[in-house]
Amino acid sequence: MSPFTPSRRVVGLTALSTLVLTACGGGGGGGGGTGGGGWSSSSSRSTSSASSSSSSSSVLPDPATAPALKTTFAGKFKVGMAIEPARLNESISRTILEKHANSIVAENVMKPHAISPSEGVYNFTEADKLITFAQANGMEVRGHALLWHASAPDWFFAGDATSPTYKDTVRKRLEDYITTVCTHFKGKVVAWDVVNEVASDNSGETYRNSRWYQIFGNDYIEYAFRAAKLADPDVKLFINDYGTEDPLKLARLMNIVQTMLDRGVPIEGVGHQFHINSYWPPAGNVTAALDAAKNKRLINHATELDISIYNDPGSCYGTPSTGCIAQVNPGSAQYNNHLRVQASKYRELFNLFAARTDIESVTMWGVADDHTWLDSFPVARKNYPFMFDTTGRPKNSFWAVVDPAFVI
Ligand code: G3I
Repeated sequence: MSPFTPSRRVVGLTALSTLVLTACGGGGGGGGGTGGGGWSSSSSRSTSSASSSSSSSSVLPDPATAPALKTTFAGKFKVGMAIEPARLNESISRTILEKHANSIVAENVMKPHAISPSEGVYNFTEADKLITFAQANGMEVRGHALLWHASAPDWFFAGDATSPTYKDTVRKRLEDYITTVCTHFKGKVVAWDVVNEVASDNSGETYRNSRWYQIFGNDYIEYAFRAAKLADPDVKLFINDYGTEDPLKLARLMNIVQTMLDRGVPIEGVGHQFHINSYWPPAGNVTAALDAAKNKRLINHATELDISIYNDPGSCYGTPSTGCIAQVNPGSAQYNNHLRVQASKYRELFNLFAARTDIESVTMWGVADDHTWLDSFPVARKNYPFMFDTTGRPKNSFWAVVDPAFVI
């Protein structure tokens, strides 16, 4: 079972057609005409080729005319994508990254279990491949993540927990680890997710009841941030979590942030994972999440954005999962409709991001639909959460984002 259990609001399978229609407005709540208030597209395309039928496949613009996402949002925010080093050798990922991204993040190879499988052993080989690729292509690298309950090798916690020196021992391991890793990547990463997913999903509980929390209470968060700051004073330090679009989860996370800021802990930004779906959340919830950090004078990064096409009920995330939406397959009318609703959500979100000044980076948790963790979460079922399809072609979502005149 995945340790990742998002608290999602369930939105009934409401007016799919309504969403399709509202997507055609072009403003996304951010102001009317092209260039008026948000970003301006670097090229304009004919919209007449988009299908108006809700059941047939869209005829999309020629991929050769696609502008680079990083150019479209230049001056607004960096466009990032999560990648595994092995996938750099595959043409779909590599081609898209080289054209569209000016920021990357390791999907897995910079997590503690990958960097340090046993005490004192550090393996930077895979992570360094990403650094090399980024440097060769003028990209930033976000570091993910220094501390995460789901990637906490046992060696951190080895020893007699009843011993009076146990806490000091574990604390030293944590600080040594963070110091070594931050020092290795000094000057090579622009930001670290210092702690990942430390807020609880349960009402009445602020902190996740992780091994870290069981040993230290909330002090481990302070230790982690201070060690990172000491090792690399220039890198931006983030607290990263999912579900900030849920007001209750957001309140828990911001409670933690404020507690730490009151102690002088050097938190500089909030990472919003934004693992969302085509139907949830409404724009107002995203705005509230970003405003919460902005109001504390913190930077915002969208760190793991993907938009599931499935509007699963909450029970789908349970054990056992029930009620998950059945898989849809490319070519079906259902699939095409799903992609249109998804495109509306992408447009809404990117318009919202581009209209703000506090969001410096927007990272997708993958590159194209050929590879996504959502293929196995919350159940084994193919998902299509990105702007590029399984063959790397720009989808409706891409065109909706780069071209305000594109009719979804
Ligand atoms: O590398 C092994 C491979 O050798 C083996 O054959 C295969 C068999 O299942 O497993 C491979 O490892 C998997 C790894 O992904 C690489 O594909 C792990 O089992 C699997 O648990 C791991 O899942 C990752 C997950 O974090 C746990 O680390 C996902 O790819 C990754 O997308 C996901 O990312 C997290 C963020 O870090 C934090 N926020 C939530 C997000 C999604 O869960």
